[in-house]
Amino acid sequence: MYRAAIITASDKGAAGQREDLSGPAIRELLEATGEYTVTRSAVLPDERRELADTMALWCDQGVADVIFTTGGTGFSPRDWTPEATADVCQRMVPGIPEAIRAMSLQITPRAMLSRGTAGIRERTLIINLPGSPKAVRESLSFLLPALGHGLEILTGAGGECARS
Ligand code: MTE
Repeated sequence: MYRAAIITASDKGAAGQREDLSGPAIRELLEATGEYTVTRSAVLPDERRELADTMALWCDQGVADVIFTTGGTGFSPRDWTPEATADVCQRMVPGIPEAIRAMSLQITPRAMLSRGTAGIRERTLIINLPGSPKAVRESLSFLLPALGHGLEILTGAGGECARS
């Protein structure tokens, strides 16, 4: 089992003015695989510092193998999730957002509007997903089948890449 944490970046969600549907959608999809247990979740305002501090704390405490964020990846003046993620990552993983956008572009041209990123801090992978439950479902449906292999290597659970 891999340990996952979820951060919803939403001013309205954090203020209790909007129900968070995307965080629960991530949880549902992860748990449905039978391969993930969710160890932490939080709904935070779109504050770069607060988002970065929470990600860094959870990585440094080793509470999760992967942190999924949802929201704050677009063009709004309050969208800072990718920057907060880059603030705390030691190594970026460009292939993941490349794949999310490439696959999502087959569904909607608006996929190009997500600035989401991904990276690694210590032994935790952080992945930004867009904010809507629809986008979360679409992104995770093609992301999850490939992710286990990366987490195996990151956590030292084995999983050598096959070499020819
Ligand atoms: N990706 C997928 N797969 N499906 C979607 O519906 N919506 C896009 C994009 N990525 C979408 C998607 C839209 S409309 C926006 S504005 C951006 O994600 C940014 O979303 P965010 O600001 O909520 O993070």
